This record gives sequence, C-alpha cells and structure tokens, in this order.
Amino acid sequence: DFSWKLEDHPKLPKGKTVAVVVLDGWGEANPDQYNCIHVAQTPTMDSLKTGAPEKWRLVRAHGTAVGLPSEDDMGNSEVGHNALGAGRIYAQGAKLVDFALASGKLYEGEGFNYIKECFDKGTLHLIGLLSDGGVHSRLDQLQLLLKGSSENGAKRIRVHILTDGRDVLDGSSVGFVETLEKDLANLREKGIDAQIASGGGRMYVTMDRYENDWGVVKRGWDAQVLGEAPYKFRNAIEAVKTLREETKANDQYLPPFVIVDESGEAVGPIVDGDAVVTINFRADRMVMIAKSLEYEDFEKFDRVRVPKIRYAGMLQYDGELKLPNHYLVSPPEIERTSGEYLVHNGIRTFACSETIKFGHVTFFWNGNRSGYFDPSKEEYVEIPSDSGITFNVQPKMKALEIAEKARDAILSHKFDQVRVNLPNGDMVGHTGDIEATIVACKAADEAVKIILDAIEEVGGIYVITADHGNAEDMVKRNKTGQPLLDKSGNIQILTSHTLQPVPIAIGGRGLAPGVRFRKDVPGGGLANVAATVMNLHGFIAPSDYETTLIEVADN
Ligand code: 3PG
Ligand code: CO
Repeated sequence: DFSWKLEDHPKLPKGKTVAVVVLDGWGEANPDQYNCIHVAQTPTMDSLKTGAPEKWRLVRAHGTAVGLPSEDDMGNSEVGHNALGAGRIYAQGAKLVDFALASGKLYEGEGFNYIKECFDKGTLHLIGLLSDGGVHSRLDQLQLLLKGSSENGAKRIRVHILTDGRDVLDGSSVGFVETLEKDLANLREKGIDAQIASGGGRMYVTMDRYENDWGVVKRGWDAQVLGEAPYKFRNAIEAVKTLREETKANDQYLPPFVIVDESGEAVGPIVDGDAVVTINFRADRMVMIAKSLEYEDFEKFDRVRVPKIRYAGMLQYDGELKLPNHYLVSPPEIERTSGEYLVHNGIRTFACSETIKFGHVTFFWNGNRSGYFDPSKEEYVEIPSDSGITFNVQPKMKALEIAEKARDAILSHKFDQVRVNLPNGDMVGHTGDIEATIVACKAADEAVKIILDAIEEVGGIYVITADHGNAEDMVKRNKTGQPLLDKSGNIQILTSHTLQPVPIAIGGRGLAPGVRFRKDVPGGGLANVAATVMNLHGFIAPSDYETTLIEVADN
C-alpha cells in the first residue's frame, strides 16, 4: 500500500533548517579567462570548495544523467530542476518526442488526430524555436514533423519561426533558416503549399516565461495570427540577414517580421479552420502563448481577432492546468516529487526566486506542477524581475533581494526548508557579455554568503548546488579545449549552457558529525540530490529514488 510517510533516518536528526541554494548556470570548468566564475571574486563558493573536501563534490548535470537523449546534450534548467526535485531520472521531452516521431506513434495519437481534422480545408501552422539547441525544441524534430504531417494529409503548411542564439551560437539562425527553406522547397515540389510565414527573436517574440512580459507574446500573436509586424519581407533568409544587419539585433532579439506575397499580403495569418502546433517540447516558454491560443477568456493583451482553430502543443505544458488540452506527445509523468513527500512529512517549505526563474524552483522542482501541495505548509515568493532589459545591464539582478528573503525566512524559524534559485550566472551568461557575467557571479556569491550566515545563526544546514553550467565557460572550443576563432579572428562567444558538471556543497552547524559525501557514487548527478536533502531533514528517501550522496561516518 502506498504511503507518503517517509522512514526516519537511523542517524540523522529532524528539525534542522535546511537551506537549498541552486546557483543557476554555475558549472565547474578549467580556470581560464573565459571562466567567469574563476575570474570573478567568489570567496564564499571558493571556501566551500577548498574548506572541507568531504563536503564538496561535483555532480553530473547534462545528458542521460538528467534524462536527455545523449551525452552531447547540455543541461538546462527544466531537466535540472526536475531531477533535483524528483530524485529520479525521467526520459524528458526531447527524448519522448524522438521516440514518438521514430515509432510513428505521434501520428496515431489523440493530439494529431484532433488537428488533422483541419487538414482538408485549413492550414497547419507550426510555431516554435528554430535551432538544434535541444533545450526547447530541435530542428530535426521539426523536419520530421513537417514530413510526417504532409504524409498524413497536411496540404498547406506555414511555419512561424523563432530565432535562437541563446542555446546555440549567435548568428546560427541564418543557417537554420536555410536548412528549413530547403525542406519547405522539397515539400513544395511534392505539391504541398509550404512556407515560412513569420518570425522573430525568441527573447523578443513569443517565448517569454512566468508572465514576465506579455508584450513579448503579443508581438508574436500580431505576427503569427494577425499577420502584422513592423517588418515585411518576401523571404525569411533575407529577413533574418537584413534585420541582423540593419537593426543590429542578435538572433535572440530579432524584431518580429512577416513574410508577404507579391501583393504585400501576409502569406500565413492564422484564420478560422486552421490547425496550430507549438513545436517546443519544453514548457516554461510555451505556457503563455498556449494560454493566448487556447483560452476563451483572456485579458493579458488585446488579441483583436481570435480565430477558431484546433490547437495542440508538442507536449502538454502544464498538467495541472491541462494546458493545452490537446498535445502530440505525452509529457513525462513526474510524480511523488521530494517536495510533495516532504510536505506530507511535515516539512514547512519556503521557495523564492525572481520572476524569470521563479517557476524553476517551484513548477519545475515540483515535477512541472503549478501551485502548492499544501498551502498551510508552503510559501512561494516571487520577486519581480526587471523586464524589458537584457541582464548584462543589470547583472546583479535580484540576487540580494532573493538572499534577504531567504535570510528572513530562515531567521523566522517558520520553515524547515528554504529553497532559492540565484539566476545571475545563467541569465547574464546567456547574454554573452563576459564582463557583466563576472559581475553576475560575484553577486551570486555574495547572495550565498547572506544565506550561509543566516543558516549559521540558526544552527541549520546548507546544500549549495547548481542546475547546469553556463558562466564557467563563455567561449566555443575545439575538441582539445582551445577557443575557436571566427573568420575575422575573434573568439566565438558561447551564450549557451555547457556540458560541465556542477558543484554541490553541504555544511552548517546543524550538520551531524561524521556526515560526508560517499565515495561510492562517483557518477552521481542532480537526481541524487533529493535523497540527500531528505536525509538532511532526517528521513530516508523512497526506495525508487536515486541514492543519497551522503553517509554518516562512525567516529
Ligand atoms: C532559456 O530558456 O532561457 C534557455 O533556453 C535555457 O535556460 P534555462 O534552462 O537556464 O532556463
Ligand atoms: Co539558462
């Protein structure tokens, strides 16, 4: 019989305040000038590393350790926080979509059959991130879906692209558009009326998250649905090249554009009777567009015209909200997360970050579930992010505010677990601005110090870790680790995450004597952290959880 009751840990006490700090985008890499964590002054994190060797180690944060298809897949916040919170490794969206496409099951599913009803008279619109980054979407999956949809009856297809430059190198958008254009030309040869209809940079068009800025989604709506944008082009390759040059925007921030025909009419607005698929598998940056496409009552911006469409997500993005109702591939069913167990076992939990990472320590941590398990035992605090800026101009972000909230929560004695995400290394790392990323890392380190001091004051325990790498390597490298130069001899800035492992450190006055990292889990990854944290709360993790990283030595 299933029970939420966790067994008591035979050696570790209950009742200690445990701070769990996730440094976003904070990996471990060789110390050189492109390692912003190394260059920055980070005395607190340094002291954890050099202070007590049995209380600091590295864990895997990419590839199969977090449920991604291969070891070439860098880590990301979704899969990282899923693993940290769930304590088990689930096949993630990227992998599930791969299976569904390869087996053809995708075309037999409820979602595809639902949208297929529109193929006779309507257009199939595919909206999503165009790159091979593998974090939110993958180009090869889009290519297979285009082929499969046309073989399964789609006669008119419009693709609404969002350029990347964040999970892949800036400037790579041109190549991805060229590849897509070739595929669409092939489809046209087969008699399918297929073309790109609109586009824009992912950070400026459509892919906002956690309701940071609805204006982003509105710009997408205007281009994709209404066929209206400040820029009009006859083809998308020209659009991306011209906009990069003339507006000086990078791939992430390209302004919205629509493709028009010879008479200047948009070639692919979304109209009554059409089918729409958002092709991203990752949830956070699809929830807002999904709401705008799906909800009848919607007041976040004026949609002007709301077409009667059949809409499906590549995945369902929020199981609790059932959003969207229809989807092509079932998401991983992440259940019995550590957060849910701990709440059932009386652990009062506080979680906090700023808007752009708030859902990471709540929604993703809790297995892609929004809201509280038990509001009487949990408090989640969101600090509003600065919006409308790139974070290199504000690299300290809200680190101090987050740390102060955590400190207050710790000192209040109202919580057993105080969990935060510090976004700096990641969000500033994604801008590719090395100087700013150094400032960001210092700010995150200072925030850690504030939290450690509070833990010291109450005699608690800390667990400091990260969800994936980013700031520790800001340059694209060749196989031997040397920075790669572009044609003009400049280094190629790496805006994306990395394949690096991340640190985990434990400590605090409340840590029982003899607690240390085990030596027999050398391949440990983020999914091993949940059992570790449960131990520090005085419990043994459920038997199907990935094993704990700690042991208690007999003195
Ligand atoms: C983003 O969505 O900002 C990036 O693609 C991934 O960053 P995250 O996984 O750190 O959120
Ligand atoms: Co990131």
